[in-house]
Amino acid sequence: MDIEVEGLKRLLKDVREEKISGITFVKGSFNGRETVVAKCGIGKVFAAICTQTMIMAFKPEIIINIGVAGGLAENLNVGDIVIADSVVQHDMDTTPLGEPRGYLSEIGLVKIPTDEKIYKTLLEATEKIGIKAVLGTVASGDVFVSDSEKKKFIKETFSASACEMEGASIGQVCFVNKVPFGVLRAISDGANGDANMDFPTFAKMAAENSIRVIKEFIMAF
Ligand code: ADE
Repeated sequence: MDIEVEGLKRLLKDVREEKISGITFVKGSFNGRETVVAKCGIGKVFAAICTQTMIMAFKPEIIINIGVAGGLAENLNVGDIVIADSVVQHDMDTTPLGEPRGYLSEIGLVKIPTDEKIYKTLLEATEKIGIKAVLGTVASGDVFVSDSEKKKFIKETFSASACEMEGASIGQVCFVNKVPFGVLRAISDGANGDANMDFPTFAKMAAENSIRVIKEFIMAF
């Protein structure tokens, strides 16, 4: 979200911006670390464009994706955080070819694991700050999940904790480029059409939390 980019930008020194393929990449140093921040846009294709561009233009050691997600696991409330230990594309379907749902043919995987050091450091950062976070699978697809049937399908098929629209494509691009990656998502809704929340207020709170976690993360990593 813009609010997340703005918050992260405020942490950076010597800020420079570069626009590639319509995406603004904000470069700067944080705690002596060269850092690049970008808003990828909504959906797997924009996320993949952003990730591949970031890798080719800036050669990052690691990539972290932050944002919001629909909660699938029972124990999650709005504002809680899900840190991915794996990501999966719930709309990837080559089952008519005899492959399992979510299977990525060229890679031979359904779930792509995130980097263990990254997810452990993210978890430690949330603990230190005192925000509730759970580790689990984040399922991505080009759909805003808002009905109980779809929610049930994603949750049960992939044992997923949260659903969103970018993390797994970012993971796939990182995987093929051998770049360690992590995904951190704040729960914004129950993925069942329960739109009774004040999104701007929530977004501000979620962005502030995520930025605090990322700040801790970079200092600890
Ligand atoms: N991002 C936040 N909530 C979501 C949902 N329910 N489905 C997909 N992406 C989301």
